[in-house]
Amino acid sequence: MTKQHAILVGVGGYLPPRILTNDELATRVDTSDAWITERTGIRQRHIAGPEDSCVAMATKAAAAALADAGATAADVDAIIVGTSTPDEAFPATAVRVQAALGVTAGFAFDLAAACSGFVYALSVADAMIRAGQARGVLVIGAEVYSRILDWTDRGTCVLFGDGAGAVFLRAEHSGVGPQTRGILSTHIHADGRHGDILYVDGAVGRPDRPGHLRMLGREVFRHAVGRLSEVVGEALAANGLQQSDIDWLVPHQANLRIIDGIGKKLGMADSHVVKTVDRHANTSAASIPLALAEAWHDGRIRRGDLVLMEALGGGLTWGAALVRI
Ligand code: ACO
Repeated sequence: MTKQHAILVGVGGYLPPRILTNDELATRVDTSDAWITERTGIRQRHIAGPEDSCVAMATKAAAAALADAGATAADVDAIIVGTSTPDEAFPATAVRVQAALGVTAGFAFDLAAACSGFVYALSVADAMIRAGQARGVLVIGAEVYSRILDWTDRGTCVLFGDGAGAVFLRAEHSGVGPQTRGILSTHIHADGRHGDILYVDGAVGRPDRPGHLRMLGREVFRHAVGRLSEVVGEALAANGLQQSDIDWLVPHQANLRIIDGIGKKLGMADSHVVKTVDRHANTSAASIPLALAEAWHDGRIRRGDLVLMEALGGGLTWGAALVRI
């Protein structure tokens, strides 16, 4: 028996050219390269220029993913953008991207799940492909956190960066099982009781109160390791797979200590954990596709590899996806 699966056929990323180093940040707030590096592993982040809107960055990443797949706008019938920092309340970032790419078929919408936005969007895309509602889906994570950071709060402004990443998924009929190519399964969760440990105290479209990111870092950290370990176990069990079956861990890039903690729990060799947090910092929904793009294009990730992605973010939201490339 064959079933329709979501095959990952193209990956792309975009980072704004402006780089902000820890040392430069230390001239603005009371911090140091040593503190930031030791606690988070972050050395620098990319910061959007005036031309790097959420839409512009998402469009560049999506165009790169399509080109990588050898696909064109005519192959796309759905666009889902994971973002918490859209340029406008509406229309959705996704429809602006649709127009910019020249896509005229299907549907397009944004999805807000903070740093879990990409895993959530992947989950929705996978379900829609399995259900036969879409055949060519662009899943994008795009964020301009520099615009919602309180640049006087050293506890948060050192942690985030801007960028966009995208994958192109194509529906294909294939057999069922862990060796099947494509998204094997996705697992997403939320617990709104913890909504106040990581949130934005304003809203898009409120110039009087645009909002800044607020976070109880220790609380988030405490939840992250436990929740992520649980959801990774859930993903492996759902597919009858062992930790040792995973070829690559492509985690959300929030903090090196969280990434290394999960890698260790999974018994992964450090060389098989994809890390970009040192150069990108936390780009929220963009961080996984940006990390994936790096390891995909430098040849580390190859056809047949089993890739585990996981993320936790504001909500709290968290999730994992297992993909056979
Ligand atoms: N530079 C120097 N000192 C600082 C800085 C800074 N940038 N920020 C905080 N400090 C100080 C604090 O004021 C505090 O000083 P005090 O002891 O005199 O009061 C001290 O450092 C310790 O502060 P903590 O917040 O307790 O430091 P902690 O070791 O917990 O590290 C951190 C903070 C890095 C934020 C950590 O809690 C963390 O990584 N948490 C997870 C956050 C995260 O990953 N968020 C994103 C995930 S969800 C998403 O992606 C949206």
